[in-house]
Amino acid sequence: RTYRIAVIPGDGIGTEVMPEGVRALQAAADVYGFELDLVELDWASAGHWQAHGTMMPEDWAERLETVDAIFFGAVGWPDVVPDHVSLWGSILQFRRVFDQYVNLRPVKLLQGVRSPLAGREPGEVDFYVVRENTEGEYSSVGGRMFEGTDRETVIQETIMTRTGIDRVLRYAFDLAERRPAKKVTSATKSNGIAITMPYWDERVAAMSESYPDIDVDQFHIDILAANFVLHPDWFDVVVASNLFGDILSDLGPACVGTIGIAPSANINPEGTHPSLFEPVHGSAPDIAGKGIANPIGQIWSAALMLDHLGEAEAAAAVEDAFESVVAAGDTTVVTPDLGGTGTTAGLGSAIVDAINHP
Ligand code: NAI
Ligand code: MG
Repeated sequence: RTYRIAVIPGDGIGTEVMPEGVRALQAAADVYGFELDLVELDWASAGHWQAHGTMMPEDWAERLETVDAIFFGAVGWPDVVPDHVSLWGSILQFRRVFDQYVNLRPVKLLQGVRSPLAGREPGEVDFYVVRENTEGEYSSVGGRMFEGTDRETVIQETIMTRTGIDRVLRYAFDLAERRPAKKVTSATKSNGIAITMPYWDERVAAMSESYPDIDVDQFHIDILAANFVLHPDWFDVVVASNLFGDILSDLGPACVGTIGIAPSANINPEGTHPSLFEPVHGSAPDIAGKGIANPIGQIWSAALMLDHLGEAEAAAAVEDAFESVVAAGDTTVVTPDLGGTGTTAGLGSAIVDAINHP
């Protein structure tokens, strides 16, 4: 079987961690007996912007519609193109046009990684953040009025739809049903945001009727953020709107050590369009070019992609590989964000070795 995969490294450390992600994928393909047809693209980069004045070619969607998955690095080079332009011109287009309405982010404390949370052991922190990825607070409805006067006013509307909420809730409840804890936690702020958020709560209550064996919990986003730090063991599947989910899915990885290992999947569950897999982190201009970026976020994203493609065994092997390398705790191998002196390529090689010799 051959998988056709678009490979888009993007900018900054995206171009440094992507080769390691591809090496891990290729190793898994060789061991588990499938083929990769990789389509490398220089889109979503400052280089593309400078050459063409856009982040991607106009026919990007047609050209990607037929791939099995998109493997993405990171976009953003603020010295050349403003962040809202680079983001809206690439990753946010994929999520919306390809209707990748689930953003899935595992939060798992690995053996050998020190959590900044006191006294937490691997096994105690193992949950998912499910973020609504196409609507909500990230809307382009709004505008500026009375510009340049002292009546200057800006408005940006939050858009929530029944379909949009229900489908991401259904994904979260289904995911919880496959896990031992069978628990869904919903994040809102219905005291302050008194129109959209109570509606989200209503849809959660309605959805929970169809899942009688799932335990449902709900918090306001502020105390929920505090509880990620104080009681990370409470959570199993946390579901949230676009903005709240964005914040929680950076906080979660921070609670388990480093954002450098955190993966994410932008999923179109129906498979009508390709899904996209990328590390949680951005292009990290502060460490770009030094060869010290942690490649595990990219490699773990490769594992999520393999799982999505139906290669569950290969996905598990990739996860086992980076978990064992991190657990071994060789400080000359792991990168500085994990307290080591290793390099991107060195850590990548160790993981590839572990895939080849499990
Ligand atoms: P960032 O994730 O790039 O960096 C935040 C901090 O984490 C930095 O100190 C960085 O050195 C560190 N870090 C990130 N990834 C790491 C890794 N793999 N290994 C070790 N350390 C790592 O977020 P920031 O600085 O807010 O944004 C930088 C650029 O990235 C901006 O242009 C932003 O728009 C873009 N961005 C793109 C995203 C995407 O492509 N989906 C997501 C987040 C930011
Ligand atoms: Mg984010």
